[in-house]
Amino acid sequence: MRWRPRPFVLLFALGFAIGGLAAEAPRLEPLSGSPPFPADNPPTEAKIRLGEELFFDSILSGGRRRNCGTCHKRELHFMDGLSRGWGLDESELSRKTPGLLNVGWQRSMFFDGRVKTLEEQVSKPLENHREMSLDPAEAVERIRRDPFYVRSFGQAFPGEEITFDLVAKAIASFERTLVSYDSDLDRHLLGDEAALSASAKRGMALFTGKAECIRCHNGPMLTDHDFHYTGVAERDGHGQAGTKYKTQSLRDALRRYSYMHNGRMMNIRQVIEHYDRGGSAPESMQPEIRPLGLSEGEKDDLVAFLSSLNGRVHRLTEGFPKGPEAVAEGAPGAVVTDSGDSGESGAAVDDPSYLNR
Ligand code: HEC
Ligand code: HEC
Repeated sequence: MRWRPRPFVLLFALGFAIGGLAAEAPRLEPLSGSPPFPADNPPTEAKIRLGEELFFDSILSGGRRRNCGTCHKRELHFMDGLSRGWGLDESELSRKTPGLLNVGWQRSMFFDGRVKTLEEQVSKPLENHREMSLDPAEAVERIRRDPFYVRSFGQAFPGEEITFDLVAKAIASFERTLVSYDSDLDRHLLGDEAALSASAKRGMALFTGKAECIRCHNGPMLTDHDFHYTGVAERDGHGQAGTKYKTQSLRDALRRYSYMHNGRMMNIRQVIEHYDRGGSAPESMQPEIRPLGLSEGEKDDLVAFLSSLNGRVHRLTEGFPKGPEAVAEGAPGAVVTDSGDSGESGAAVDDPSYLNR
């Protein structure tokens, strides 16, 4: 018997086709509110305060000389101001130190995404002999002997025994309060026509059109949270050509001290040139980008657009969801604002007072 398509198969196929057509094209979206807090680690003031103490306390490193803030410096948007991280052995790490603003919205950690959650990430720098070099069990022993921490853990986690799990929960809760938005682009997307300069608007048209950046840098974080090979040259002895890395969020892109996983590029112009050439790696590996043929003026416009991504809001101080019942993404957050800066490449923060405790 000849096979005849049945009506429901046809309907299904039709639905699929329409669904495909209706699938949303990637677009830019404003960012605001609070990142999602996991149900098993709801935020409280006491926990966030404790996480902040731990983040900046060298009790968490082998020689008591380093803490998370040694590399993720508060006054440098939680970066280190270097092209790559600096190891305990007084030599460069193979990757740059990413900033931690908006890290609560990241869906995986590290440039290769090898860790999924902020909680899971916390033990990694301790276990790394070039970063903090301390057995997490030893960290817990130290903390249990410290009267200040015994009291603070008692307030943050009443009735619970101090474990590394709780250390991680506290630090992760603090990290989720570090946000950056209310950029010129956010204002523009929310309807403020005057927020972007004419050049930034032309840059936005390039970003979402001819230059194809939107393919990977989209949504409120300007990342698809996925991994791609974009032809970034590896350094001798480090990394392998063709490796895919996490699409970096472009929020605060002009505040960085170096660009790409290995800090290979020192300013935003080099990044634009890289994309314009269709990649920088000499290897035969085919990157997921192609030459763009941008004029010098178009490159300027792209830079103007990228400089509209510097946020003015940097810290949730209250208003994040409280208690396990309130963990929705985008819950309203009360915020501390600063005056913003003009977005010079690699510029340090004008007025770091908003980052004060
Ligand atoms: C020696 C410098 C150094 C220290 C100390 C350090 N980090 Fe990092 N951090 C880095 C580098 C470099 C990376 C990127 C590593 C990679 O991708 O493989 C990173 C990545 C991260 C990430 C992932 C961010 C992202 O966007 O993927 C988080 C979160 C983080 N660190 C938090 C911490 C915490 C919490 C501590 C303290 C417990 C800490 N770091 C200590 C240098 C450091
Ligand atoms: C095929 C996906 C893809 C496209 C298209 C793409 N990017 Fe990227 N972008 C990435 C990935 C992946 C990274 C991280 C690469 C790395 O770390 O080595 C990245 C990194 C960057 C960075 C560096 C951020 C940092 O802090 O290191 C900038 C800036 C950037 N892209 C801008 C752009 C611009 C501008 C365009 C359009 C001209 C563009 N990207 C097109 C995937 C893409």
